[in-house]
Amino acid sequence: MSQLFIAHGHRDVDPLLQVHEAMRRASVPTWYTPAGSKDFEPDSVRAAIDDAFGMVVLVSASSIRSKAVQEQLQIAHERGLKLFPIRADNARLSKQFKTILADQLTDSLNDEGALDRLVQQVKDRYERRCPVISVMNLKGGVGKTTVSSQVFGTWQSSLGGRTLLIDLDPQYNLTQTFFDMEHADASSARDKSVISLFERSRLHAYDTISPSESWSEINTDPFEPAEREVITHDILSGENAPGGRFDLISGQFEISKYAFAKGPEALALVGSNFRRMIDYYRSEYDLIIFDTNPNATFLTRCALEAADRVLAPMHADVYSLRGVKLLNQVMKEQISDEKRPDLSILFNAVGRSEQSNFEADARNGAFNAQAGFDLDGALLSSALPRSGHLNVKTPEPEAAPWKQLVIHNGRGGGLKRMRETLKGIAAELKHLIDA
Ligand SMILES: Nc1ncnc2c1ncn2[C@@H]1O[C@H](COP(=O)(O)OP(=O)(O)O)[C@@H](O)[C@H]1O
Ligand SMILES: [Mg+2]
Repeated sequence: MSQLFIAHGHRDVDPLLQVHEAMRRASVPTWYTPAGSKDFEPDSVRAAIDDAFGMVVLVSASSIRSKAVQEQLQIAHERGLKLFPIRADNARLSKQFKTILADQLTDSLNDEGALDRLVQQVKDRYERRCPVISVMNLKGGVGKTTVSSQVFGTWQSSLGGRTLLIDLDPQYNLTQTFFDMEHADASSARDKSVISLFERSRLHAYDTISPSESWSEINTDPFEPAEREVITHDILSGENAPGGRFDLISGQFEISKYAFAKGPEALALVGSNFRRMIDYYRSEYDLIIFDTNPNATFLTRCALEAADRVLAPMHADVYSLRGVKLLNQVMKEQISDEKRPDLSILFNAVGRSEQSNFEADARNGAFNAQAGFDLDGALLSSALPRSGHLNVKTPEPEAAPWKQLVIHNGRGGGLKRMRETLKGIAAELKHLIDA
């Protein structure tokens, strides 16, 4: 479960208990190192920060001097964790505390109503729904999988937060970007995969028949969501891994079965299971990404119904344009106004010369009529160039999955520029979502 991390100096026992008690009354789960202790297992502290949705920092002479708190603050800052500083005494701020916290440090625990304000801010954050982005285009090979991994891997690395990738494409290329086939298939053989978002599986109950075994049967029994640690793969794990949380629910071919399912009632139930699971995992993450299949199927509908935004990569050509046109049409016809996700379009693999004319024309609105909507208004201002850095190869067996991410690994000319481009796209998307 997601929690509030409370950073405190070892002398801050009273304010710590005060904050803890207030959060308990507001039903916000908290985590902190035992009161009065100076040292604590650094790994479990790190893991607790990775699992946190925010950090209350008790600002005091004791916490400012504490090496442990300085480190916690640094990690949280680097991971983009939401910080809630509050003064516990009038100590002078250190340079680090000033740089990271000064802007938000307005209240002191002793101020009238300060604790209530803190609880309200924390609660708002806790209950905030994490955004869900579906990477989609009704055309194959336009870069959906590449964008899902590389743009959002960069987002996680540069903007922090807890990100979950879900591989909704029955071809599961996204999963194969990070894990070799054998590993991926062994995982789905245990139902540790996307199928457990749709039907009750062996992940939920040991004695269940795997839903992947029968294409004609749909298990309509109810089930509770599997624990996050049970269903996801940790992409950032391993020795020397960059920190934070970047997880994957792996894909598998058998979710194609829903395209052949008989009976609308069972399918409706499977769809509502999926939405319920996404809602549950939303409380554990700050961002959820779907990589999707290129043809309009039941899975497309599931993705559209659960997403707040669709991100459509497109090549600078008429085939991609048609894919985006169809996508917009499906969104308009199949999803009701109040549930319809926003649409953003990202040019991908744009070459230097002739194709850039297509991009320029698109930005000038020349293709709006052909697309059937305001394509120019939906376009992100940044674009992904064609580059060997994005032509990611299948992973070496046993290699750490994060090494597939251009932001963490790679060599050759233009790498720095590519990373800046990826960061720019992530920042632009984040800005759109926060607006
Ligand atoms: N900007 C790019 N530059 C170079 N190669 C790219 C780029 N984007 C995608 N690719 C390559 O193009 C192929 C198709 O991309 P992919 O992301 O799998 O598309 P989709 O998921 O839409 O089918 C892959 O081999 C991928 O590595
Ligand atoms: Mg793909």
